[in-house]
Formats: sequence, C-alpha cells, structure tokens
Amino acid sequence: MNFYRRRFLVVTGAAASTALLPFSIRSAEPLKIGIIGAGKVGSALGGVWVQAGHEVMFSSRHLEDDQALAASLGGGARAGTPREAAAFGEVLLVAVPYGALPDVGKDLGELVRGKVVIDTCNPFPNRDGEIADWALRKGAGYASAELLPGARIVRAFNAVGAARMAVVHEQPGQVGMPIAGDDAEALEIASILIREIGFEPVLVGGLAMGKYLRPGTPLAGERGAEEIRQIAAGLE
Ligand SMILES: NC(=O)c1ccc[n+]([C@@H]2O[C@H](COP(=O)([O-])OP(=O)(O)OC[C@H]3O[C@@H](n4cnc5c(N)ncnc54)[C@H](OP(=O)(O)O)[C@@H]3O)[C@@H](O)[C@H]2O)c1
Repeated sequence: MNFYRRRFLVVTGAAASTALLPFSIRSAEPLKIGIIGAGKVGSALGGVWVQAGHEVMFSSRHLEDDQALAASLGGGARAGTPREAAAFGEVLLVAVPYGALPDVGKDLGELVRGKVVIDTCNPFPNRDGEIADWALRKGAGYASAELLPGARIVRAFNAVGAARMAVVHEQPGQVGMPIAGDDAEALEIASILIREIGFEPVLVGGLAMGKYLRPGTPLAGERGAEEIRQIAAGLE
C-alpha cells in the first residue's frame, strides 16, 4: 500500500468515528504539510491545520517572517525555505500570486513530483501580468499543472476570503468548498484536510473545471454544498 493510501485510510477512519461529535478540529493522524507562500491564505490555512494537529512548515522568500509566524502558532509549526517546505510536506499548499508560480515551479522542480498540491493561486492579469492571461486562456487547473510538473494538483480555496478560512471551523459543514482535480487519491486527501477545518468539499470536476475556481465565476463566493453542486451542474 503506498504512503498516501495508507494515510488516507487511517484518516478516513478517524473522520468517520468523530462524525457525530461536536466539531473537533483535532486530526487523529497528523500529516506533514508544506506551505509555499505564507501570506494571507497560507498563514490562515496553515494556522488552522496546526490547530488540527498537523505539522506545518511555512515558507516564502522571507524566512524571518515565517519563523515569527511559526513561533506565534507554536505546536507543530515551523519555517523553512520553499525547497525545505516542499521536501518536508507530504501535502503541499501553494498560495502565491500567480505571477510567482513559474519561479516557484522552477525553484521546487522535482520536489513537487508525485505530491498532493492544493493550489489556491488565482490568475489576475492586472496583478500577475502575461502569465495570468495565459492561465485564463488555458484554464487555471491545466495552467498550474503545467507550471508544477508532476504535482497531483487539487484546486481549492480559490474564491473564499482568507480571513474566513481561519474561522469556518466554528460553523462546520455550512460552507461548501468547490474543488477540482484529476487525481482521485489527491482529491480524497485534500477533502479530508478541507473538511477538518470546517468546509464541506464539493468535487465539481477534473482539472478542466479548475477554470471556474477563481474569483468572478458563478462558483465564486460562499455557498452551501448543495448550491455549489447545482451551479456546477450547469457549467461545462
Ligand atoms: N487573499 C485571499 O483572500 C485569497 C483567497 C483565495 C485565493 N487567493 C489566491 O491565493 C494566492 C495567495 O494569496 P494571498 O492573499 O495569500 O497572497 P499574499 O498575502 O500576497 O501572500 C503571498 C505569499 O507568497 C509568497 N511569495 C511570493 N512570491 C514567492 C516566491 N517566488 N516563492 C515563494 N514564496 C513567494 C509571499 O512572500 P514573500 O513575498 O515574502 O516571498 C507571501 O508569503 C493568490 O494567488 C491569490 O489570488 C487569495
């Protein structure tokens, strides 16, 4: 049994056994999570995953900032370079401006191959320049997959505010989280991490549907899971 499958089964069992309890943000089987881009999104999600008991390594181009963030969170939080975080993480969260994604892909290289990568990055031409135009034409799911070769991409957290990501666990299950990806096991693992912090993951399709997971589309904003399913059913 490969590493991801073994972990998935253990974590799924834990999730099922706590399903009837009041929301507990404690994961029974901690994962190592590498955060590439410890800004608003990376720090919010990394923070709640630390609370859930995961080991989280934060990274950016400013190690001192990430060390301060990790120190403020305590527990299983630490900081490193992006390459160290990519090597550390069994699951990676990439949360950088889209304009930085080509450099991130080159910097991390083979370290992302075969890893589950949760991709929050949104292409905005005004902010990110030509790469964003290219990503919008290609679709953000396929574009991120091309920029991070070999990564098992799951697009998620693309059109909910970063501040909400840190507090939705207070109302577990009420906010849906559209996700898209082509790798079934990666989707399962990402779904566990998403559910642990209070969102209800809703698979809207493969990486092709990643083009809808960004601000400004019918799926953007906060909705319940059923409404997301209904909207997604009308998209192609
Ligand atoms: N903010 C939101 O509410 C929100 C919601 C959903 C999705 N998103 C999307 O998620 C992504 C992150 O958004 P954010 O708001 O968290 O951005 P942010 O606050 O600007 O944080 C970006 C992080 O990426 C790091 N970074 C930039 N270039 C890098 C590089 N080449 N290598 C490594 N790290 C790098 C930055 O640190 P250094 O500059 O110190 O390296 C910073 O830690 C964006 O694509 C955004 O569109 C944002």
